[in-house]
Amino acid sequence: MDFGLQDKTVLVTGGSKGIGKGVALAFAREGARVAICARDEGPLEKTALEIKTLGAKVLAVPADVTDPGSAMRVIAETVRRFQGLDVLVNNAGGAQKFAGFWELEDEDWRQAYELNVLSIAAFVRGAVPHLRKSRAARIINIASTAGIQPGKSNPHYGAAKAAVINLSKSLANLFAPEGILVHCICPGPVWTDSWERTTTRKAKELNISYDEAAKLERAEDEAAIPLNRLGGPQDVASLTVFLASGQASWMTGSCLRVDGGKVRSML
Ligand SMILES: NC(=O)c1ccc[n+]([C@@H]2O[C@H](COP(=O)([O-])OP(=O)(O)OC[C@H]3O[C@@H](n4cnc5c(N)ncnc54)[C@H](OP(=O)(O)O)[C@@H]3O)[C@@H](O)[C@H]2O)c1
Repeated sequence: MDFGLQDKTVLVTGGSKGIGKGVALAFAREGARVAICARDEGPLEKTALEIKTLGAKVLAVPADVTDPGSAMRVIAETVRRFQGLDVLVNNAGGAQKFAGFWELEDEDWRQAYELNVLSIAAFVRGAVPHLRKSRAARIINIASTAGIQPGKSNPHYGAAKAAVINLSKSLANLFAPEGILVHCICPGPVWTDSWERTTTRKAKELNISYDEAAKLERAEDEAAIPLNRLGGPQDVASLTVFLASGQASWMTGSCLRVDGGKVRSML
């Protein structure tokens, strides 16, 4: 299938690791020009090199998406380098603290909202004037199944991701007349760097090895997934590429799950 993404410019926030890195590499394989941003320059440069090795044009911009002004700066650098912007993938997200309701403080709620929701608003505000000039403009926001089907813990994260889902639909309505198509993807559990950090913490808490903790983490989640495996970044990346492509030109406002069947409802 021809996705028609050759020479399209794609910006992936949080593109240095995990799902964002998988998404950036997938676009590079399609011949797109790829801009990535993240805070830590080491992994950012490493991923940029991997993208270059695939033969794609790449720009790496160190930035914290929660810093006021960072969105404008990253977008300006992207547009200066590649003379435009076609696809914005708002992937940077997560939470500084994963915990239950009683362990969370106001600051944790604020931080989760800033990282997951306000950053998207800022990047969309900065990107739309450029997306308006594209003939195949897309905004794809990475939310989470936690925003649809919350568990017992991390209510701040789940509530922020629910806001991302709602915001995505609102933006889809707003920008449809201008041909800017907006989607939201809700991954289920995907093994990434963020999981490695959780596993390291769990190993310390339980006084067991990293491998034992990883086995426990995987077993707990796999048991709740009908397809019986955790996802990988590529599982999310292939859907992102499809939604950005000309093959998905009669879709907007979709909220799609990539979760091995974890969420129990059909809708
Ligand atoms: N993995 C899962 O199971 C899962 C499930 C559902 C949804 N998600 C969502 O998928 C997205 C990616 O998650 P992931 O698991 O791939 O995370 P990850 O492995 O921790 O990678 C996160 C990426 O975002 C960057 N990032 C984090 N905070 C940032 C900030 N303030 N400014 C700029 N860049 C930032 C990180 O680089 P730096 O740290 O260097 O900044 C890194 O490149 C998130 O929105 C997450 O909520 C993940």
